[in-house]
Amino acid sequence: MNAQTVTVLGAGYVGLTTAALLAHAGYTVYVVEPNKERLKVIKTGRSFFFEEGLDEVIRTALDMGMLVPTDSYKKSVPESSVVFSCVGTPDNPDGSSNLTYVFAAAEETARHAKPGTVYVQKSTVPVGTGTRIEGKFEELNANLDYVSNPEFLREGTALYDTLFFDRVVAGGRNKAAVNRVLEIYMDLEKFRDHIAHIARVRIGARGDQYIATTLNSAELIKVTSNAFLALKISFANSIAILADKADADVVEVMDAVGADNRIGRAFLNAGRGYGGGCFPKDVSGLIASGLDYGVDLEIMHAAQAVNESMPGYVVDKLQDTLGEPLTGKKVAVLGLAFKAGTSDVRRSPGVAIANKLVAAGAQVITYDPQAHEEAAPDLRDGIDQVKTIEKAADNADAVVITTEWDEILDFEAHDFARLMKGKILFDAVNQYSSVEASTAGLTYVGVGHTT
Ligand code: UDX
Repeated sequence: MNAQTVTVLGAGYVGLTTAALLAHAGYTVYVVEPNKERLKVIKTGRSFFFEEGLDEVIRTALDMGMLVPTDSYKKSVPESSVVFSCVGTPDNPDGSSNLTYVFAAAEETARHAKPGTVYVQKSTVPVGTGTRIEGKFEELNANLDYVSNPEFLREGTALYDTLFFDRVVAGGRNKAAVNRVLEIYMDLEKFRDHIAHIARVRIGARGDQYIATTLNSAELIKVTSNAFLALKISFANSIAILADKADADVVEVMDAVGADNRIGRAFLNAGRGYGGGCFPKDVSGLIASGLDYGVDLEIMHAAQAVNESMPGYVVDKLQDTLGEPLTGKKVAVLGLAFKAGTSDVRRSPGVAIANKLVAAGAQVITYDPQAHEEAAPDLRDGIDQVKTIEKAADNADAVVITTEWDEILDFEAHDFARLMKGKILFDAVNQYSSVEASTAGLTYVGVGHTT
């Protein structure tokens, strides 16, 4: 076992980003991925998903021999002083997190690890999971130190967020093990400008905090952060619905409300609601976790219900604006990724809106610069995917912007007006220029936003 050798289990967004970055910070990093297809892609120096700058970091780490992709625990874990678990936690049908992979990874590590190995949980797990895993280690007679190290990176800015983090949180019973984990991030910090240069990621501010906590607090910090951000979005969307009725503008409202430093402007953008692999899952996970402890987190039920209603709200508002049924109307849905900068379509509002429109009888044409392939299995029959904005907007009765890609927000309003048959530009992310749209003769519609 070598202090400078670590293993990362799982090559998803979190695992592959962590592995590739640590490989540039003086660590030899095994990245364990059981999926043969994915492993093959990583071995060629690429990621199997789109994330700005990541391919370059993977390729250079492989060239230096510091990143070693493998499907073998036996080869990687015994060599490593620290093992990061970044395996997936899919949803159970009841909304709780499925921890099958989390436990399987911990047990498999326990079978191969040398005594004193630090086992770091980066996967998002309900509070109390670490204690259960510690119990498993004991059962298996494995002398490992468990540390919870929640991950806060966002897809699309995964490298930036990991290099220029606001805070690193680590919690566990063994203080030395917690400090060992924090030190790894301090090492990464030393190399971050250099790595940012390789990945062509902008250099960020340095206000980093290293926060050591108890095990259960660390577990709760992750879901609490995400749940609070989700709450902010649902709150903004509730106010947007009121603004629509009261003839106010939610963007003006949130600009002023968010100018209060105690509140902050971030995550108050109203629109078609949140999607992705984290917020929907973390909110339902927190609700389920609360119930396990006999606590009903009513406020989170409300956030979830508002969010789930937003794609339907957009479709209903579009129909009201049209003033006639959607049947037979040609609607272009621009954006299938759950947000810009990623090809991820998990719980994507754009996909939900496209599916609702087709269910209402509309003829739906979609466009996304990155997410075509990933969206295909989730789109209902009858939805056409095209390769350009022009093709999508051509002859459309209405255009709905569902993801804030620059390419879509920068598309000239005059060109929409020229291509379209109808006049409705529905900006479901509240970020297209309403002035340009109106000047071009389009009817601009947002979510609680008109100006
Ligand atoms: C989130 C957290 O931000 C990150 O810290 C955590 O580690 C993982 O979950 P991510 O899901 O990648 O990251 O994306 P994020 O940028 O947070 O956006 C999530 C969703 O909320 C997107 O669908 C986005 O469009 C939506 N959103 C975000 C809004 O609708 N309004 C906002 O004001 C902000």
